[in-house]
Amino acid sequence: MSELFSIRDARADDMGLIDAYAQAEGMDVMPGPERIRVAVNDDDVAVGFCRLQDDEGGIAYVNPIVTYAPWRGYGVGRALIEDARTIAGELRLVSRGTSEGFYRKLGFEPMPWNEVDLKAASEDCDNCPYRADCGPVPMRLRNK
Ligand SMILES: CC(C)(COP(=O)(O)OP(=O)(O)OC[C@H]1O[C@@H](n2cnc3c(N)ncnc32)[C@H](O)[C@@H]1OP(=O)(O)O)[C@@H](O)C(=O)NCCC(=O)NCCS
Repeated sequence: MSELFSIRDARADDMGLIDAYAQAEGMDVMPGPERIRVAVNDDDVAVGFCRLQDDEGGIAYVNPIVTYAPWRGYGVGRALIEDARTIAGELRLVSRGTSEGFYRKLGFEPMPWNEVDLKAASEDCDNCPYRADCGPVPMRLRNK
């Protein structure tokens, strides 16, 4: 792992920053620190986070992952996904079109819409007015 940051479980006192990072991306606030891992800088301040949510079959969905904008491009997102994979095995998600390249770089591949649990992914793409602009893509990273 990079020495710029490390990854640990989220705590209640991280939630202010985590929710601010989520809301800056137009996402909802998180229900709490459960199943959130945070990347923290040397001062133990969150610079990115990844939350997992299981579908009914126990497959983990990344929901969501965000790197604080000034920290993008330093490997935080990759490290959070590698950490999530170590914890959960196969990962699934619905990617925004703008993030598809990030996930492909990490080995994710597109998967059929009918195999996605939209509840676990917390996406309602069928009823979303921004679907055409967003260009959502269901993706998975299979177990090694
Ligand atoms: C997507 C996101 C989490 C990536 O985080 P990051 O910390 O910048 O990612 P990394 O620095 O670990 O990048 C890993 C690799 O992916 C590449 N990459 C990152 N974002 C990319 C993108 N949007 N498109 C294509 N490639 C991308 C990087 O160049 C890097 O490649 P390299 O290893 O060859 O240098 C971050 O851009 C973000 O928070 N975006 C806003 C929230 C969001 O859209 N989340 C995903 C919802 S589906």
